[in-house]
Amino acid sequence: MKLVHTIQELRDQMRGRDKVAFVPTMGNLHEGHLQLMRSAALHGDPVVASVFVNRLQFGPNEDFDKYPRTLQADAEKLQGAGVYCCFAPLEKEMYPEPQEYRVSPPHDLADILEGEFRPGFFIGVTTVVLKLFACVQPRVAVFGKKDYQQLMIVRRMCQQFQLPIEIIAHETVRADDGLALSSRNGYLSSDERAEAPALYAQLQAVQKQVKDGARDLAAVEAAATGALKDRGWKPDYIAIRKRSNLRAPTPDELAAGEPLVVLAAAKLGATRLIDNLEI
Ligand code: PAJ
Repeated sequence: MKLVHTIQELRDQMRGRDKVAFVPTMGNLHEGHLQLMRSAALHGDPVVASVFVNRLQFGPNEDFDKYPRTLQADAEKLQGAGVYCCFAPLEKEMYPEPQEYRVSPPHDLADILEGEFRPGFFIGVTTVVLKLFACVQPRVAVFGKKDYQQLMIVRRMCQQFQLPIEIIAHETVRADDGLALSSRNGYLSSDERAEAPALYAQLQAVQKQVKDGARDLAAVEAAATGALKDRGWKPDYIAIRKRSNLRAPTPDELAAGEPLVVLAAAKLGATRLIDNLEI
């Protein structure tokens, strides 16, 4: 596998290639990321990954400095997953000067849920993804449903900017006990790791109640939030939303069988976990 650190080296590798499948990451790779790489190989060739911890999407009190940086191990995993090229730029390469031009995703999509609790997060995500797309110039890019809102916002960005890039969604990859794999799971103590699957368990409980015909969604959300609080979590939100635009369904839409998704974010100790489940 080619490990490249500069945009020039990347461009040299990409010259003449028009079927590139791209998977952007922030590294500290786990099996979820690697499944995205394998899925990318089904949709294009060669597969290119990026590893870049993007300061622009971290808030002032978030974990940018302590986010795990494990490039050597990541490169070995990417090689094992058949990735042709890994682009791992230094911060100076991606941001040689202050990033004054930024993508401004629509408020109704980017300032709710994750965007409400992490102001500016999706500006940082879309700006770096657009820059990475400009560097790699892929034909397809694979994103995980684990970050449901991110996937939707990136997909809309491609549509509105007419980027000739197909966005492929990959199912959330979970541990055997249901916990969605995440680089941040490494922050959990062993007691917290044992408790962590409760988040997915609550999403499954919500899914069941809605499937069984619950009509008071606010009550379902409140019960799930309360159950997590009782177990010592600090939930930011548990929200039942329309898959199409992440807004709450009207009673008529609910009755008509509108496709829904339940999304959650909650802190367990000092670690903030997110997850979601389509209903
Ligand atoms: P990161 O958290 O490293 O995730 C990279 C990609 O892997 C994202 O598309 C994410 O949804 C996917 N992913 C992570 N855990 C997953 C799991 N358990 N199952 C399926 N997919 C999973 O998301 C980012 O990085 C950044 O915001 C990025 C898009 C790279 C921009 O900086």
